[in-house]
Amino acid sequence: MQVTALSLPELRERSSEKWREYPADVLPLFVAETDFPLAPAVSAALQRAVEIGDTGYVASRTPLAEAFAAFAHRRYAWNPDPARMRSTADVSMGIVEILRRVTQPGGQVVVTPPVYPPFYDLVEEAGAEVLRVPLIDTGAGWKLDLVGIRTAFEDGASAILLCNPHNPTGTVHDRESLAALAELAAEFGVAVVSDEIHAPLAQPEANYTPFLAVSDAARLVGYAVVSASKAFNLAGLKCALMVTSSDQTSAVVRSLPVEVEWRTGQFGLLAAVAAFSEESDAWLDGLLRTLDENRRLLHELLTEHIPGARYRIPDAGYLAWIDLSACGWGDNPARRILKEAKVALHFGPAFGAEGAGHVRLNFGTSPEILTEAVERIATITRQ
Ligand SMILES: Cc1ncc(COP(=O)(O)O)c(C=O)c1O
Repeated sequence: MQVTALSLPELRERSSEKWREYPADVLPLFVAETDFPLAPAVSAALQRAVEIGDTGYVASRTPLAEAFAAFAHRRYAWNPDPARMRSTADVSMGIVEILRRVTQPGGQVVVTPPVYPPFYDLVEEAGAEVLRVPLIDTGAGWKLDLVGIRTAFEDGASAILLCNPHNPTGTVHDRESLAALAELAAEFGVAVVSDEIHAPLAQPEANYTPFLAVSDAARLVGYAVVSASKAFNLAGLKCALMVTSSDQTSAVVRSLPVEVEWRTGQFGLLAAVAAFSEESDAWLDGLLRTLDENRRLLHELLTEHIPGARYRIPDAGYLAWIDLSACGWGDNPARRILKEAKVALHFGPAFGAEGAGHVRLNFGTSPEILTEAVERIATITRQ
């Protein structure tokens, strides 16, 4: 199945953050929403719910956990137990609620910058403090700093907030690093909260490994928070799953107040069940092919129009982490790009000090919009 983005006039009819934050002369490639139509099965499920007014509370028994378990089995050869999952409104809420349980007030939570900016706020919201252990830039990619993480654990960190695949670099952490992280966490009694929201968008050759599928140690210490929301563009519908794989971690998630689960959106749940169903597999495969083309097109466009840009093709997702330091546009090039080129990108420094000189660009769009965005940005270089 071919998945093609909507046209700009169609997109401008949308009322979500991506299309309302900036005036109409700005091309928005910032927030992580995509410009594709809904998967047909998702659209049908939502239309049916509207037709029959199925807009009440989420039921206490739903097919969501089974749907995700079947999806995980088909797509990742991973067999999580539906009995060890609970839903909530979104991945952010799942992270905060788990962190509240696995840390003490003022405890330390490791994050690995450059990283999704709200991670810093989520740790704080949970009453803990951020301990930064930046990713190592190998020149060819990024990897976890396992030596730095060990030191943080020795110094008393109570949890690590992992992002797999990683936002903004698009890194799929390899199995060996994840296994080593799990061993370390088990050794020091540290909880690993793994945000796997971008996992359905890992490209096949990247060999994405769910953290809980890595080892017995990972299953003892790990909590995965997953959602259909990034791949299927359902963020506004509010549904995510907290997944565990041991008695100890399941007990922690089961101990969360029932309200945490009640906040799941009914539309989000119906949409997620349809998204995770086998019926949506061909659409998701089509989306992955479109994103594969876009991530390569972006490389060609940058090479041609902005030779100073440094961009490594991501393993997953639709976010590109671009180093524009060599262009001389300052620490926060997205500011200048917004003002002078009328293209909205995410501000690099928001991801941590490592983001100076960087931007994050969302290529979950059409080749036409992507091309125009890069061409607009390139006009700055010629001034
Ligand atoms: C890594 C990561 N985690 C969490 C979120 C937010 O997810 P939610 O809207 O489910 O809280 C995003 C959104 O882009 C993200 O990239």
